[in-house]
Amino acid sequence: MSTLFSPFTIRGLTLPNRIVMAPMTRNFSDNGVPTAEMAEYYRKRAEGEVGLILSEGTVIDRPEARNDPGIPYFHGEAALAGWKNVVDTVHAAGGLFAPQIWHTGLVRNQFPDKPRPGTPEGPSGLFKPGEPYGQAMTRNDVIDTIDAYVDACRAAVEIGCDAIELHGAHGYLIDQFFWDGTNQRDDEWGGATLADRNRFATDVVSAVRKAIGDTPLFLRISQWSQQDYTRRLATTPDELAAWTQPLVDAGADMLHCSQRRFWEPEFPALDGDKGLNFAGWVKKLTGVPTISVGSVSLSQDFFGAFAGQETDATSDLGDLEERLDRGEFDLIAVGRALIANPDWAKRVREGEIAKLDGYKTDMLGELV
Ligand SMILES: Cc1cc2nc3c(=O)[nH]c(=O)nc-3n(C[C@H](O)[C@H](O)[C@H](O)COP(=O)(O)O)c2cc1C
Repeated sequence: MSTLFSPFTIRGLTLPNRIVMAPMTRNFSDNGVPTAEMAEYYRKRAEGEVGLILSEGTVIDRPEARNDPGIPYFHGEAALAGWKNVVDTVHAAGGLFAPQIWHTGLVRNQFPDKPRPGTPEGPSGLFKPGEPYGQAMTRNDVIDTIDAYVDACRAAVEIGCDAIELHGAHGYLIDQFFWDGTNQRDDEWGGATLADRNRFATDVVSAVRKAIGDTPLFLRISQWSQQDYTRRLATTPDELAAWTQPLVDAGADMLHCSQRRFWEPEFPALDGDKGLNFAGWVKKLTGVPTISVGSVSLSQDFFGAFAGQETDATSDLGDLEERLDRGEFDLIAVGRALIANPDWAKRVREGEIAKLDGYKTDMLGELV
């Protein structure tokens, strides 16, 4: 049995294999309520033997927490009933489910023809350096937002979710606090160093941790942001440790380290072209398990795919198995390949990787 198909336990939750469905926004919840079609979509991935399903990003109860009207809420009776149906459906199919809890902060509308009705909020009223957008959160806004994360995570436990992921990556709200390009606050949630600007994330993580008992809590982070794909929050291992260790100390059980291609080394000048990737370094520095991600079984990374490039399926997994065997990271998230192939995990287990379908951006037009 390969490591990819061996079980893994985190805070008492045992996944049957190392394959995680990456969180992927689909925009099919026009009134914020997850639909029966969404439950079917996730059911197919559970039946296809994904070890743990991470949901699309789903937002907390704050005004303007979503930058597109198709993003589901994770609050309110109707939305939570919709999510409960998703969770029950995934469980009935033998799967495990964790919502990705989100606030899009000061990321602009995804579709300019669907303007946001109110004024979005973020740390300092900046979409990116030099580009004012929305409004800076007051102290009360920050405190209420932390409470809204807690409420969403408590609700996740109540409706039976197996784990919870907080979205702290890609330039959305939590990430906007990390970055000095978008966080210029002079209170305790700002500051000159990444360790200072960690405070919002650590406040959220520790408040959530206290509220959810023994439910496993993951935090997704990234060096890059959609405001600047070349951004790197931590340019040395010391900086990476100063950023991630407090997140772990606050109560994150696992860090989900987002990168475009899982095989790319994080600090090649230190450990070479085959060096540890982002998840590998974070695991080495903090000692907690990590999830890696990025272009598994695909020819193009997802920036290329968004730019309309064809993405073929590749018929091998590169050195994924070796990296898992070595314990570089513990779980691997699979994104677009699971949109194209709901039964990706099952087919790979059965040795049918050569028959996988490639990914095309127009697949996002329907929920299959
Ligand atoms: C359509 C689409 C929607 C996405 N939505 C989210 C999201 O809601 N939250 C998130 O953290 N990442 C999101 N991502 C990034 C994916 O989780 C993943 O990191 C990325 O697609 C790389 O994995 P892949 O190469 O296996 O597709 C999205 C990616 C795609 C393609």
